Parts: sequence; structure tokens; C-alpha cells
Amino acid sequence: MSDEWMPTLRMKLSRADFDRLPRHSAFKYELIGGETWISPWPRHAHAELKLARFRPAKDDVAVLPTRNARVDDIEALLPIFRGAFGPVQPYGSLDDEALTKAGEISLQRTFTGEDGVLAEPASFVVLQDDKVAGAILITLLPGGDPNEWESIHWHETPPTDLWAKAEGQPHLTWIFVRRLEQGAGVGTQLLQTAVRALKKQGYKSLWTTFLIGNDASALWHWRNGFKLLPGMFSKRRMRREIGKLGKDAAKEN
Ligand SMILES: CC(C)(COP(=O)(O)OP(=O)(O)OC[C@H]1O[C@@H](n2cnc3c(N)ncnc32)[C@H](O)[C@@H]1OP(=O)(O)O)[C@@H](O)C(=O)NCCC(=O)NCCS
Repeated sequence: MSDEWMPTLRMKLSRADFDRLPRHSAFKYELIGGETWISPWPRHAHAELKLARFRPAKDDVAVLPTRNARVDDIEALLPIFRGAFGPVQPYGSLDDEALTKAGEISLQRTFTGEDGVLAEPASFVVLQDDKVAGAILITLLPGGDPNEWESIHWHETPPTDLWAKAEGQPHLTWIFVRRLEQGAGVGTQLLQTAVRALKKQGYKSLWTTFLIGNDASALWHWRNGFKLLPGMFSKRRMRREIGKLGKDAAKEN
């Protein structure tokens, strides 16, 4: 859960100052008993990229060397993680030491399979002057409706041959680029490299999840053709589900 890295703040503020507080969408703001409470309220959006439709313009894509990501890249990735995620929630309120620890724990989780089965052949680091400058890590989830817990978590030990059989739903679990290199097509190159590997294996789509309030991430996904999926409380989703139930009932009768 991303709120494990987010602080809860309590402070005395006048009503007028409370009303003027700048807001961030990953937090909720409440006046409780004359005290201001600012507490984590992380909400995530899911989006999907149809792999066949991913065709970035040539000059939007960097051309740096890449290679498959390995667990022993974590050490080199940590300073990049700190620079990339230091200014953004859910890590944006941590000091350097806590941020390094959070990065280490978060990346370890992905490499040890806690975020789904790591699709190693589709996970890459990018190199600049022989040094790691960013990474994309793809995991394989059960798939279905990303709003459902069982679609994004394996209840039982997942099969070991998911990748070989092109099964499971690929999910973009991490993408981050060294601060200095951002905006130069490196993230798009990492995505392109992962998409090529996924397509070659026979996968059709890539899911992603981003924190509402991480604007750079949302814009980057949008620019690269990810399509927003309906959220948990979407009326569109509910209408579709009711329509489907109606059709199923009609078939049974
Ligand atoms: C998101 C991220 C991976 C994109 O990689 P990148 O190499 O900087 O992106 P690219 O050069 O391939 O694409 C640039 C486009 O992404 C979007 N974008 C990237 N960073 C942005 C920012 N800070 N503000 C607004 N838009 C941004 C824009 O649409 C931009 O296009 P433009 O140049 O025409 O404005 C990188 O910015 C990053 O590491 N961010 C911090 C970590 C993060 O939030 N990761 C995503 C969640 S896991």
C-alpha cells in the first residue's frame, strides 16, 4: 500500500487558513475538534496500452543501450529512484534516508514477486555512459478487472511457466528515469523496449497503475497511448455490469 510512506499531519490552523491551504489529491484535509488533520488518501487509476497500437514518433524515443534488469541492479537504481520519486507522492514527504529505505523495500518487493511475477525478459534498465540511468519493471498479474483484488494479486503460488506460455496480464509496475535525463525520450524508449519483448512473446496489452496526483506519470502514460480504464465507482462500469447481468439472465430464460 502506497500510504505506508505518507505522513499524517496534525496542526492548529484558523478556519480561514484551513480554507486557504494548498491541496494535494493524495491527501485528505479535515478540521477535527479545531485541529487540522492532513492524512493519506491515495487513490489509483488503472490504464491499458494495446500493444499493437503503440507507435511513438521516432524522435520521441531515445536511443541508449538497454539490457535486462537484474536484482543486483537495485543498488545502482536506488539513487535514481530517490531523484525520480523524491519530489512526488507517495514518497515525496520522506527524508533522504527514509526514501532510500522505501526505494529498497519497494524494489525488493518487485524482484521477489510480491507485485506479481517479474517478467524478467520484458524488464529493462537503460544505460548512459555505461551507468544505469533508469528502469522499467514489468510483472505478470492474474488479469480480469483491475479494480478487483483477485485480478491484481495471486491468491495461490502462480504457475512458473507464465511467461513461456504468454499467460498472465503484464503490468507496468515501475518506470523511472534519472532526473537529469527526464523529458528526453528515455522513459518512452524503456516502454518501447518492454513492448517489443511482450509482443514478441505474444502478449496483447499492458496495464499500468498510477497515483492520482502524480501528474508527470499521468501525462507520460497519456502521451504514450495508455487508455484510462473505468474506476471502482465509475457509473459507466456499473452500467456495463448491469447490462451484462441483464443479458446473462435473458440467455438463461
Ligand atoms: C514518468 C517518467 C518515467 C517519464 O520518463 P521521461 O524519460 O521523463 O519521459 P519521456 O521523455 O519519454 O516523455 C516525455 C513526456 O512525458 C510527459 N512528462 C514527463 N515528465 C513530465 C513532467 N515532469 N511534467 C509534465 N509532463 C511530463 C510529457 O508528456 C512529456 O512530453 P513533452 O516533452 O512533449 O512535454 C519520468 O518522468 C520519471 O521518472 N518520473 C518520476 C517517477 C514516476 O513518477 N514514474 C511513474 C510511476 S511508476
